[in-house]
Amino acid sequence: MENIHPIFDRMESRADKERLLGHRGAVVWFTGLSGSGKSTLAIALERRLSARGILCRILDGDNVRCGINAGLGFSGEDRRENIRRVAEVCRLFVDTGVVVLACFVSPTRELRQLAAGIVGPEDFCEVYVATPLAECERRDVKGLYARARRGEIRDFTGISAPFEEPESPALRLDTSGRTVDECVVRILRVLLPALDMKQEAEQQQ
Ligand code: ADX
Repeated sequence: MENIHPIFDRMESRADKERLLGHRGAVVWFTGLSGSGKSTLAIALERRLSARGILCRILDGDNVRCGINAGLGFSGEDRRENIRRVAEVCRLFVDTGVVVLACFVSPTRELRQLAAGIVGPEDFCEVYVATPLAECERRDVKGLYARARRGEIRDFTGISAPFEEPESPALRLDTSGRTVDECVVRILRVLLPALDMKQEAEQQQ
């Protein structure tokens, strides 16, 4: 549906917001199995970015599914709607110059392509948290793997529903055998140049 009151030409633009904040907006899209460490990394990354004056917002499956996406389950159709809505929210944040740290299992290439398409590929930094299933299951922080193995949870990613590995993520990170700090440093190496407004301005010259 078209916006019947087009006010976008009078609103402050994304560039205005980015100038105000002093950095570009972007989405770091963490994909990986439940328990792979997506949210742990996002929380540590948020601290590091905040310390540099970079404004962040974490979006996390467990939280979003209690609010804006309450009522959505884990069928293929519901996961698609979950990711579609979340990607639209990400875009709003990016248009405000914010760096979104999005933590979603997003188990298929199609779902991640959908998200990247809505956000815009140039603002979408895919980080595959490639912690092996055996390690996620060993951690079983929420006790969900045990329940899935007992057949109490249907369509559980990695157990009774598929996870397709990303083919060309910006970064692939196996958290087993690495500290959170080591992982965050790797993400920063990829991310910081993309947030730098000066670099972009130079590229445009
Ligand atoms: S997604 O597939 O639609 O991207 P999302 O990231 O929002 O999933 O939610 C995943 C979280 O929901 C998991 O970390 C886990 O805590 C919980 N969960 C509950 N049931 C399932 C399930 N069947 N498959 C995967 N995760 C589940």
